[in-house]
Amino acid sequence: MCGIVGYAGLGPSENRVEQASAARDGASDRPLEVVLEGLRRLEYRGYDSAGVALVGPGSAEVTSAKKAGKLANLLAELAERPLPAATAAVGHTRWATHGGPTDGNAHPHVADDGRLAVIHNGIIENFSELREMLAAEGATFLSQTDTEVAAHLLAREYRAAGDLTAAMAATARRLHGTFTLLAVHADAPDTVVGARHDSPLVVGLGEGENFLGSDVAAFVAQTKEALELGQDQVVTITPTTVEVTDFDGAPAEGKRFTVDWDAAAAEKGGFESFMDKEIHDQPHAVADTLLGRTDASGRIVLDDLRIDESLLRAVDKIIVVACGTAAYAGHVAKYAIEHWCRIPVEVELAHEFRYRDPIVDAGTLVVAISQSGETMDTLMAVRHAREQGAKVIAVVNTNGSTIPRESDAVLYTHAGPEIAVASTKAFLAQITAAYVLGLYLAQLRGNKFPDEIAATFDELRDMSRKVQTVIERGEYVRATARSMADADKVLFLGRHVGYPVAMEGALKLKELAYIHAEGFAAGELKHGPIALIDEGQPVFVVVPSPRGRDQLHSKVVSNIQEIRARGARTLVIAEDGDDEVRKYADEVFWIPKAPTLLQPLLAVVPLQIFAMALATAKGLDVDQPRNLAKSVTVE
Ligand code: F6R
Repeated sequence: MCGIVGYAGLGPSENRVEQASAARDGASDRPLEVVLEGLRRLEYRGYDSAGVALVGPGSAEVTSAKKAGKLANLLAELAERPLPAATAAVGHTRWATHGGPTDGNAHPHVADDGRLAVIHNGIIENFSELREMLAAEGATFLSQTDTEVAAHLLAREYRAAGDLTAAMAATARRLHGTFTLLAVHADAPDTVVGARHDSPLVVGLGEGENFLGSDVAAFVAQTKEALELGQDQVVTITPTTVEVTDFDGAPAEGKRFTVDWDAAAAEKGGFESFMDKEIHDQPHAVADTLLGRTDASGRIVLDDLRIDESLLRAVDKIIVVACGTAAYAGHVAKYAIEHWCRIPVEVELAHEFRYRDPIVDAGTLVVAISQSGETMDTLMAVRHAREQGAKVIAVVNTNGSTIPRESDAVLYTHAGPEIAVASTKAFLAQITAAYVLGLYLAQLRGNKFPDEIAATFDELRDMSRKVQTVIERGEYVRATARSMADADKVLFLGRHVGYPVAMEGALKLKELAYIHAEGFAAGELKHGPIALIDEGQPVFVVVPSPRGRDQLHSKVVSNIQEIRARGARTLVIAEDGDDEVRKYADEVFWIPKAPTLLQPLLAVVPLQIFAMALATAKGLDVDQPRNLAKSVTVE
């Protein structure tokens, strides 16, 4: 939610001679180029507006440009009105909170007679009282944003302290809410100063240049060396130095790490959209998440978990906290973990969790699932759980993010960067990782024999190949979606693990194609939702394996008959060779045979492809659906 980039330098030191000759008065175009490239990679975090601010030696003021709408609008503005060469720069891509998505509300916000520019991610809760105070002192406000208050406050503190880092710390101490702030000042033309409180900021370490970003995607094309910042820290970068302090000015240290994503992974690689590419990445996301999790004898080893095994043996309840797609991954995992470990598992939307006084104690294991590792609702649930004495394991995709740092342990998914706003490969990786965790707990607690665990793990490993098969069958799904571009309501049904898959299918269609879509437990249909069915109503049904237990299959086949009798058009996801269901389906999307608990990894794929293809047929942008942002860093 809002993407932030900062840069100080002239270019990598090996290019310095080249850079110097290109440099004008010790400045170059590199700061603007790096910041725009970073914004391009961070645009998934928000695309209501974009802006940049630059400083160079001898500048009397910062120079800036900003435009409502997507980054393309800013690029067009810069082509018409180019900015001068610089030594440091900041850039921002916005997901609007305070103030609509207009040019005036776009960041950066400028203060100190044009000498200071500030960008911000988060929400400043005490902005109106600060605004009153600053206005009374003579500050003129040009926007409706909370950010402009931070800009004027920083200018005020700078006038008092005469030092940008100290001023940033003083500003941070006065702000309530959540924020990452970056600032450049004409007095310090080779410096960018940042501060973070409950909002993400990572440092990229270069040679003769340094970077700041909301996440590593901002600079992964430039450097893989990075520094994770702690909570409530101020960071000052110049081309050759990185200094970190706390909000009181005391020196602090970040934690170094190497980014294991390559820049190409964050490119479209020939696909029409990031979403299409990420759907195709799914076999790798599953396989990579399983890599290195077993020893030669097939035992699961989670060395990176670093949590006392005796605590895990003693756990008497698991609560999964997550939002959106990640919560649906948690719902799927509940079925498997309860079955394998015989521990009760609750799944709770993270934003509901701490407000209902949940029963959490030292015997509770909280599993926080998040692709970004930054979702504020999930982070707050993690904090609440730990305050109550629970242990928290984070299942997260993004290195250097906040949720793992604030949890007791982390199990990384290895889906690689997920750029499209609608989650696809992260969902499969989250289910995979949660299953590994479930099998590990079953192994620790002796709920399953080692050979049973090894066999299930092998089946899990084989899912990568099967996911690939489903993707290869995607054209039929796409053609069906294209023929349904005028649908205005689509329902999704499933039972058991098929139920969260149905909800995820509905979510994908809502967010991408702006169609009303609802996922139901198939058994619930007769308790009300069946009233929605009329002639021609499209209904997706996720059908469990006919080889599964508990007559689930025949129950779902009966549900299909019930809706068909009322005129529904049935679009069925069924296992290869399921001749029974074929009789009652208008369309069948076949998936390879798999054990019931693993079927979600396959069944969701046609639903993802369907939503993407239908949205594309409607001419919509599948990577950046309206009103959304990738990483939701406000509550
Ligand atoms: C939907 C989607 C969202 C996220 C949710 C949690 O396609 O992407 O529902 O799953 O906002 O995000 P993370 O996983 O980053 O915590």
